[in-house]
Amino acid sequence: MTVKFRPSQRLSRLPPYLFAQIDRKRKVAEAKGMDIISLGVGDPDRPTPAPIVSTAQQALRDPRHHQYPFGAGLREFREVIAVWFRSRFGVSLDPEREIFALLGSKEGLGHLPLAVVDPGDIVLVPEPGYPVYQGATVLAGATPYPVPLKESHGFLPDLHAIPSRIVRRAKLLFLNYPNNPTGAVAPLSFFREVVAWAKRHGVLVAHDAAYSELYFNRPPPSFLEVPGAKLLGVEFHSFSKTYNMTGWRVGWVCGNPQILQALARVKDRYDSGVFQALQVAAVAALKAAQGTTHEMRALYQRRRDLFVRGLQRLGWQVCEPQATFYVWSHVPRGYTSARCAEKLLEEVEVVCTPGRGFGPAGEGYVRFALTVEEERLQEAVDRIAHVTW
Ligand SMILES: Cc1ncc(COP(=O)(O)O)c(C=O)c1O
Repeated sequence: MTVKFRPSQRLSRLPPYLFAQIDRKRKVAEAKGMDIISLGVGDPDRPTPAPIVSTAQQALRDPRHHQYPFGAGLREFREVIAVWFRSRFGVSLDPEREIFALLGSKEGLGHLPLAVVDPGDIVLVPEPGYPVYQGATVLAGATPYPVPLKESHGFLPDLHAIPSRIVRRAKLLFLNYPNNPTGAVAPLSFFREVVAWAKRHGVLVAHDAAYSELYFNRPPPSFLEVPGAKLLGVEFHSFSKTYNMTGWRVGWVCGNPQILQALARVKDRYDSGVFQALQVAAVAALKAAQGTTHEMRALYQRRRDLFVRGLQRLGWQVCEPQATFYVWSHVPRGYTSARCAEKLLEEVEVVCTPGRGFGPAGEGYVRFALTVEEERLQEAVDRIAHVTW
């Protein structure tokens, strides 16, 4: 007898995961032999810096790292993060209580709602936004409420425009600056406003700072720089984009110790910590790879200038990013974001992400990830020039 399988009702409430879909389409096109220029998923094309790799190779040979790592992370891992945090943001963190290792920041962002919200609670999610905030909220049985990021408002949410009946039920606010997909940066004054607002309404804040080091002008601030932020919030950081380590799966969350403890209780049931050899490599990244970070910023700035100017010359209305390796652009008049992305793939074999995939507020835009070399980016611009709209 065959077992009748039906996925859980929880899963049926989840929208399809956008990036997996795009990657499938790209693979199908490549299997057909098409010469795809892939500006879809935001995965750095350059390798992890060699000193990080060789540190990991050495650490792999150490049998102490072959056992379950469990818990918040190696003491050295958390101490180095505390030192880096202090020098980068001027914020003191207690390595014992205020820093926790993650299997990539996505893992922590994804598990957080399970630790802090209940069915019936509302979670405020930025839109357009990284789809994990919404998905994790749904999986925790809570209700996501989209907070629009409007271009006219610098892609910052207008917290005062959220209806009071929603705010009353809101338990958690996700924020993400530098922002994926818009490339916007939030000034410290905005974070001050957030802390005052969250304190007034008793809302917790989870700030996703995965792109904090990929900036073009002034270094973006940490949410935790605001006095009082630690009383109501946490911040997520990642090694993935800063050090080209997306495949390694290592990051951290820092800030409010009670929130961290609650998250740790969830994680105790799902994972057994970050492989220690990876933590040792991450320590090397924070200690020694600052020069590489500088080079990566210069590289993405060159790519951004080439691509943004190129699209602008073709008449595209582009939102020039202040950080990240994304370019958020209006689609040509008369097109939906999905139709625009399809046309670029079908006619000139350029993959981008339709803005609609980041929520309804992303309609009318597409996102290009600048994760190919300059010649390929130039070729993408040249190909796009041949499309008639
Ligand atoms: C806004 C944002 N936050 C978090 C992540 C996840 O990064 P990690 O590799 O640390 O899980 C991503 C990855 O694309 C992202 O775009």
